[in-house]
Amino acid sequence: MADKDGLKVAKDYKVDIPFANNEGFYVKGANNLDWGMQKHLSNIFNPKSGNSVMFAFDHGYFMGSTAGLERLDLLLPKLAPYVDVFMGTRGAIRTCVPPQITKGIALRVSSGSSMLNDDLSHEVVAVDIEDAIRMNADCMAVQTFIGADGQLSSIDNLSKVINAGMRYSIPTLGVVAVGKDMARTDRFFKLATRIVAEMGVQLVKTYNCDNFEEIVAACPVPIVVAGGKKLPEPEALNLAYTVISKGARGVDMGRNIFQSEHPVEMAQAVAKIVHEGFTDKEAYEFYLDAIH
Ligand code: 5RP
Repeated sequence: MADKDGLKVAKDYKVDIPFANNEGFYVKGANNLDWGMQKHLSNIFNPKSGNSVMFAFDHGYFMGSTAGLERLDLLLPKLAPYVDVFMGTRGAIRTCVPPQITKGIALRVSSGSSMLNDDLSHEVVAVDIEDAIRMNADCMAVQTFIGADGQLSSIDNLSKVINAGMRYSIPTLGVVAVGKDMARTDRFFKLATRIVAEMGVQLVKTYNCDNFEEIVAACPVPIVVAGGKKLPEPEALNLAYTVISKGARGVDMGRNIFQSEHPVEMAQAVAKIVHEGFTDKEAYEFYLDAIH
């Protein structure tokens, strides 16, 4: 164990210098991965923009039926044309996503808590790698609770999933969890994203915060940003624009799409920012035109 006393604070992020090991394949940190991994990552990150609109509807894994997600069978086919990846549980995907919809699949594989618990940080790996293979998952999502009571078990879960993914060339998405007592500071997100990346994931999901560009610079794999609680549409689009401008390679947005009064138009507006270089204001104008 390294001695923690006298540690210097990391500060030299060189945010203006692009990631260096970038010859050969367009996804950050994936140059040295094999064909299968790169193929899955290409199903997630659009080869033209390099970015991804992931639609998160895995809330039921601990929240049960969630406002806006009552009828996945009706919602998902409508959103499919406008997003790159569906992020959900195997139960939701198997039952409600027609297999002829050719979206990337981010399969939620950790589970173990519910809204009825105070501490959500104790999870297990709930899906066998064989089932992830059967579902043709493009990545497996594991909740990671750095600094929480369940840190050890969640790092154990993450390691097991990464090890299985490496055997079969399926990427792992490390989802940085924010417990209710955790400060959403850049200091915390720098720590958590970097630990998760060094464990060996191929992509990280985290939240926006101050100095987000430094978090991106210090993380050797692509970051996608969670939408978080429902915001008015202009603010949600501003969040997407801000993080893409600072180097995120996509968003993994749930409530800000499915709790919008116009989820399809909202997904389209988000995609304009993520893939087409729209500003948040241009995307909001697009949204207003689309709903009228
Ligand atoms: C939980 C998750 C969820 O998928 C994610 O938080 C849902 O997205 P949103 O916050 O945008 O509703 O990964 O950690």
